[in-house]
Amino acid sequence: MSSKQHVKRVWTVGSYSDIGPNFLPMAAHLVEAAGVGRDQHVLDVGCGTGNVAISAARRGAHVTGLDITPDMLENARENAAIAGLDRIDWQEGDATDLPFEDDTFDVSLSCVGHMFANPPDAAASELVRVTRPGGRLAFTSWTPRSVVPAMAKVLQEYLPPNPDAPDPPFLWGDADVVRERLGDGVATLSFATGVVEQVALSPAHYWEGARTQSGLFIVALENVEEDAFPALREDMIEAIEPYFDDGKNAVSMEYRLTEATVE
Ligand SMILES: C[S@@+](CC[C@H](N)C(=O)[O-])C[C@H]1O[C@@H](n2cnc3c(N)ncnc32)[C@H](O)[C@@H]1O
Repeated sequence: MSSKQHVKRVWTVGSYSDIGPNFLPMAAHLVEAAGVGRDQHVLDVGCGTGNVAISAARRGAHVTGLDITPDMLENARENAAIAGLDRIDWQEGDATDLPFEDDTFDVSLSCVGHMFANPPDAAASELVRVTRPGGRLAFTSWTPRSVVPAMAKVLQEYLPPNPDAPDPPFLWGDADVVRERLGDGVATLSFATGVVEQVALSPAHYWEGARTQSGLFIVALENVEEDAFPALREDMIEAIEPYFDDGKNAVSMEYRLTEATVE
């Protein structure tokens, strides 16, 4: 299986349409921070089921939603139809090789989307390339100290070592790494931090959701010996526990929002 097929499979198995709605406040934060407005040309990279693209289109922007996974785009189209938005341009494509001319967009956005593309430097330069000079870039990523990287660390301990593993996606949530990756492509750069609260009855329920709904975990678990599952489950629940807020019955998921003006 090619690496592109693998990526598509990761984002097709499970049920992202059950996970995506948890991230709606982050999508709203991103669209607001980027100042999306009427008649702007806006790109949403790794648009998934359409959270950002549809939020931007509701503000009167001309929106293109791009994703590598056809099933996500199918879901996004259904969501746009429910919202009564028939002018969003949905396109299949890769964040590292965007199918657009230079300087096409006023605003390019990605909500925990382009962070999964490899190599990350290509994803960075493509975002800059397709955005017009003076236009804006904004994206979110889980921070390195967030719950998702904490769970990925546990998983790593149960997987065979992989010397060819790419950089961890959540480095896009580290301001120093972002500064380096965007380099001279941007004239201004600022960062904000936000949290989405994902409701769950307990840390174990949160793990149950991730294990059964998230393609990232479902596919990775295929490489874990079944007799290691009980220990892995225990370690996962322990890793999730510090992020669980008993006062809200929710897991706090911290993200970094980067906003930049293109040079
Ligand atoms: C965590 S989901 C986020 C979806 C959406 N932005 C949201 O906020 O709910 C990550 C998305 O990135 C897409 N993706 C992963 N790698 C990609 C790549 N190289 N190019 C384009 N999209 C990619 C996946 O198909 C998936 O829809």
